[in-house]
Amino acid sequence: MSDFVKVSRDGDVAIVTIDNPPVNALSFHVREPLMQALLAMRDDASVAAIVLACAGRTFVAGADITEFGKPVQQPDLRAIVAVLETIAKPTVAAIHGTALGGGLELALGCHFRVADAGARLGLPEVKLGILPGGGGTVRLPRLLGAVKALRMIVSGMPISAAEAHEAGLVDAVFQGDLTPHAVNFAREMARKGGPFTPVRDRDDLLGETDLAAFDAEAADLARKARGLEAPIACAQAVRNAVTMPFDEALAAERALFVKLVASDQSRAQRHLFFGEREAAKLPGKDVVKRRIGRVGVIGAGTMGGGIAMAFANGGFPVTLLETSHEALQRGLGTIEKNYAVSVTRGSLSEEAKRDRLAQFKGSTDYADLADCDLIIEAVFEDMAVKKEVFGKLDAVAKPGAILATNTSYLDINEIAASISRPQDVLGLHFFSPANVMKLLEIVRAEKTAPDALASVVDLARRIGKVAVVVGVCHGFVGNRMLAARGSESEALLLEGATPSQIDRAFTDFGWPMGPFQMGDLAGLDIGWRNRKARGLTAVIADTLCERGHFGQKTGRGFYLYEAGARAGIPDPEVESLIREKAAEKGIAPREISADEIIERTLYPLVNEGAKILEEKIAARASDIDVVWVNGYGFPIGRGGPMFWAGLEGASKIVERLEHWHQRTGKDVFKPAQLLKRMAETGSWDVDAKA
Ligand code: 3HC
Ligand code: NAI
Repeated sequence: MSDFVKVSRDGDVAIVTIDNPPVNALSFHVREPLMQALLAMRDDASVAAIVLACAGRTFVAGADITEFGKPVQQPDLRAIVAVLETIAKPTVAAIHGTALGGGLELALGCHFRVADAGARLGLPEVKLGILPGGGGTVRLPRLLGAVKALRMIVSGMPISAAEAHEAGLVDAVFQGDLTPHAVNFAREMARKGGPFTPVRDRDDLLGETDLAAFDAEAADLARKARGLEAPIACAQAVRNAVTMPFDEALAAERALFVKLVASDQSRAQRHLFFGEREAAKLPGKDVVKRRIGRVGVIGAGTMGGGIAMAFANGGFPVTLLETSHEALQRGLGTIEKNYAVSVTRGSLSEEAKRDRLAQFKGSTDYADLADCDLIIEAVFEDMAVKKEVFGKLDAVAKPGAILATNTSYLDINEIAASISRPQDVLGLHFFSPANVMKLLEIVRAEKTAPDALASVVDLARRIGKVAVVVGVCHGFVGNRMLAARGSESEALLLEGATPSQIDRAFTDFGWPMGPFQMGDLAGLDIGWRNRKARGLTAVIADTLCERGHFGQKTGRGFYLYEAGARAGIPDPEVESLIREKAAEKGIAPREISADEIIERTLYPLVNEGAKILEEKIAARASDIDVVWVNGYGFPIGRGGPMFWAGLEGASKIVERLEHWHQRTGKDVFKPAQLLKRMAETGSWDVDAKA
């Protein structure tokens, strides 16, 4: 017996229970006693069947990710599964919560799997830049068939107990306390008698594989991988399960796993896994959080509508406020249309749509916000309008209600100072579309109360957002760094690069799209309005906007969009505009390499991140990475800008920035002190001793 693995008996059925909070990861201190327990139960003649269960909130959620990159201590998971497969009496995995990664692979070592109705099963390794390394790619196809297994492994998405039952992954689903059901199931199997065939020997479905169809699907998935190695390795490993004998395929899976786990991509993805969890941690854990029941949203435009949906989807009743009945109806109409699209796509049932819509209460009267515990304004980006809204909230909101702004750039300290309860004011900066995008920048103002902050961090998790707490500055973390990234875009155009050449350098790097494609998609008028308000210019983009070319919505922007097309083609008019403006400035066009494009756009991005850390606007470098991956599409395989800077070499970045600073004199190229220190110490820690 150990603290982590206990064996109990229910008559002739042995129950082996793993107890390794919080998620029963298969750490070495679990594997060793688990192996001992399984061997003992295998050899105990008084045991007729074995149930493998877990204590706490979940079945095994995977290998212990903190052990990756360190020498493997035996027994490893593969050895345990191999022992499970030598057991002649029935073995039953009792799955509640989530059986993920190594957890599901452990369950695949059993003859049977039974699950609680609320359980979820999956192989999410691909999200950590690896593939299932405990036999998952070789055993899962034997139960599901190769194509279904391929989809599940390459997507990394878990499936429900009901889906797993239908697919043949789970043998029975039960409601209520699972262990007694699992024991009865195991006893019944023992009574019926064997032989019980281990999954490794169930080859029937594999024989039916249509390899041409499999390869077509795998090729499609590889195309979508955008430079990530793990999805391709996953597909290869599942294919091996079809074409190779079991042990050979298992060895091939291992070789791929060992290679991937040591790769920069997997290191980057593991960094992000822990970074996302770290970002939600606040100092001073013990504050009592405020209760948040009803949520108010002011403004039913692009953001307000999406924010209201995000809360309704999370089960919160929402009061949506607009200036007029017409604007309110327009906003509610858009929300209804969005849900209808989800129903058409099959991602939402008609009944769920009705339930979500029933969460909304529309109003044009601020008094109706009096019963809200959290109120978020998403009105026009104008300080005077925001202050007016907050003034009204000050008058009607209940004491202790949290008052939030979704401003993109405005000074939240100034908004807070304009009312009588600055301690209740903070920023909730959602990203568009707010019901879809995972990132939520939570902006802590000077006077924000710790309990208000802790309450919204907790709330973010409840509505499925990845929260990062940031401080007040122009554009907070994300938009401030975006401005630094974009500062050279026009200069590169004038010096000879084309929009498609720049976008191509970005997509080759792994971004889903380049800056000009993104500008055309979001609407060039947004940046234009912002520049005008700040007295700034961008000669090419401004001219396009003056001509009414706002991007996709007008059919023209940096690219030309032929009727209804989402992908643009190069626009000769834009290219001659660029040459004309360059000539006016006396700039002769030259060849610009992809390396130079990356240096002049991404190095200033990293540099701005370093300044943000110096100013303590973000608490940790990983917080910045989490912002960029979840809000702006920074390639996950590169771990976010600050992690990538480590891979690229901070000293190289400093040297190139200095070069560009000397040539242009521009501030964005002036290396931050912290970046220089990172080049010497390899650490982004602001408080570390040099
Ligand atoms: N290893 C080590 N630590 C883990 C872990 C794991 N597999 N899974 C979760 N944790 C830690 C988290 O870091 C967190 O620690 P903290 O409290 O110190 O920050 C704590 O457990 C709780 O995790 P969450 O905050 O994520 O808890 P939730 O309840 O929100 O979610 C979960 C639970 C769905 C299980 C989620 O933690 C999760 O998705 N975990 C990872 C699952 C996974 O990727 N499994 C595959 C691992 S790789 C593998 O198995 C390789 C094999 O093929 C050989
Ligand atoms: P929008 O123009 O689509 O919507 C604003 C809505 O607010 C309109 O429906 C308007 O009728 C309403 N409104 C204006 N004054 C009001 C008042 N006093 N009371 C009630 N309703 C009022 O604007 P959008 O894009 O939704 O932006 C809203 C806020 O969100 C801005 O602060 C913007 O900077 C911020 N934001 C916008 C993002 C985007 O991608 N559009 C992303 C993140 C933040």
